[in-house]
Amino acid sequence: MNVYRRGSRIWFLSVCVFVVIILLFYLKQQSPPPTLEPLPGTYQYFRERDFYSKTHKLGAVSHCDTRFALDHALGNDEIRSTLKGLLASYATTMRELDTETWLAHGTLLGWYWNRKLMPWDTDIDVQMPAKDIAKLAVEYNMTEFVYPLPKTKSSRRYLLDINPHYSIVSFRDVANKIDGRWIDQTNGKFIDITAIHLDEVDLVSGPLTAMFCKDGHRYEKQDIYPLEQSDFEGVEVKVPAKSDKILREEYGARSLTNTRFHWYELFRPF
Ligand SMILES: *[C@@H]1O[C@H](CO)[C@@H](O)[C@H](O)[C@H]1NC(C)=O
Repeated sequence: MNVYRRGSRIWFLSVCVFVVIILLFYLKQQSPPPTLEPLPGTYQYFRERDFYSKTHKLGAVSHCDTRFALDHALGNDEIRSTLKGLLASYATTMRELDTETWLAHGTLLGWYWNRKLMPWDTDIDVQMPAKDIAKLAVEYNMTEFVYPLPKTKSSRRYLLDINPHYSIVSFRDVANKIDGRWIDQTNGKFIDITAIHLDEVDLVSGPLTAMFCKDGHRYEKQDIYPLEQSDFEGVEVKVPAKSDKILREEYGARSLTNTRFHWYELFRPF
């Protein structure tokens, strides 16, 4: 009898210890990663209102600049036409202003697969050299540009807004990873622009080849240059020289071969 009771107590304690370990592990997974303290004297410049999507077909969240966001979420059609309008107007303007820029992140992945935005995309990302962001900041900050919306009779007003923190080149400026925005003022949707900097550490060890963004992404100069001229959603754009290498590093090798994403079946038409 005694032996039996002691045995069951040990068994009970083991189960308790096991449950506590699982619980601690679960809580650790749930807690957010430690965030870096913002740099003294900085504040978050760009602010957005997030609309959460309830459908499977769209990305989980659509961001709109707080200054222009509507009080309701945009429908899928409105998001698609807004993104195409942003892209066409941005590409034209940057060409006219003689500014170098190319597709990045998820937008580059869409380009890789089908030369189009992914059907679930709710935003657009581009990069540009730090010297070009500096030029835009000095000469064109807060300039408004008016462009016709593709395939419609209406036109839209776009705002070029450059983050005053663009010249702070530190990963610790965590609230200002985005250096500039091209914003559709009718609904606040935007293109995020991040500047690419040459890594100064290499000044000591050799020729400057390492490049980085404030959001922590790193590249070799020859991954980006020479830029390749291409087409995206029928718009003339530039993409990095080694897009597949960049995408593999950012999203993993399977992002270039896996044909099932977000309830969609993908194929590469070329
Ligand atoms: C751009 O203009 C806005 C509004 O005047 C200002 O808040 C911001 O600091 C400016 N950005 C730069 C880079 O000067």
